[in-house]
Amino acid sequence: MSDKKYDDALFKIDPIDPSDWKKKPAVFSKGKLKIGGHPVMEDWEDAYMKELARIASGNSGVVLELGFGLGLSANYIQQQSIDKHIIIEANKDVFVKLEEFAKNAPHKVEPILGLWEEVLPSIPDESVDGILDSRKFSSNT
Ligand SMILES: C[S@@+](CC[C@H](N)C(=O)[O-])C[C@H]1O[C@@H](n2cnc3c(N)ncnc32)[C@H](O)[C@@H]1O
Repeated sequence: MSDKKYDDALFKIDPIDPSDWKKKPAVFSKGKLKIGGHPVMEDWEDAYMKELARIASGNSGVVLELGFGLGLSANYIQQQSIDKHIIIEANKDVFVKLEEFAKNAPHKVEPILGLWEEVLPSIPDESVDGILDSRKFSSNT
């Protein structure tokens, strides 16, 4: 008889097709973001996002952010002395939130819809001064 005390299924990460990720429904509720039923971001990560934003904005200039999520780090980046904030977001529902954020942000925001792996060539080499990538696990989350 096995003495395992857990169910293997709990530890399986659902493989997600990145192109599918773009159109999966995003649900924002009480400081949490789920995409396609997957937990993606929660507001208890705020202090970590604040520190990442401080580091990524350390050179001022242009900051590139991969993934908008709840926009926590994006808000902190906007509190720094920067010239421009480029944000790449793959999910179409999250991108709607990003566009709203861009309209009200104190510093210029350039929102780009797509997987960063696909859209990065549209950003000229050596044109950014800091990068913030807070995506977890893989390029799927
Ligand atoms: C962990 S959240 C980002 C959290 C964000 N820093 C915050 O403070 O709320 C990850 C975000 O990256 C997006 N994302 C995941 N993979 C991506 C990719 N390959 N390209 C662009 N966006 C991606 C997700 O849709 C999600 O909105």
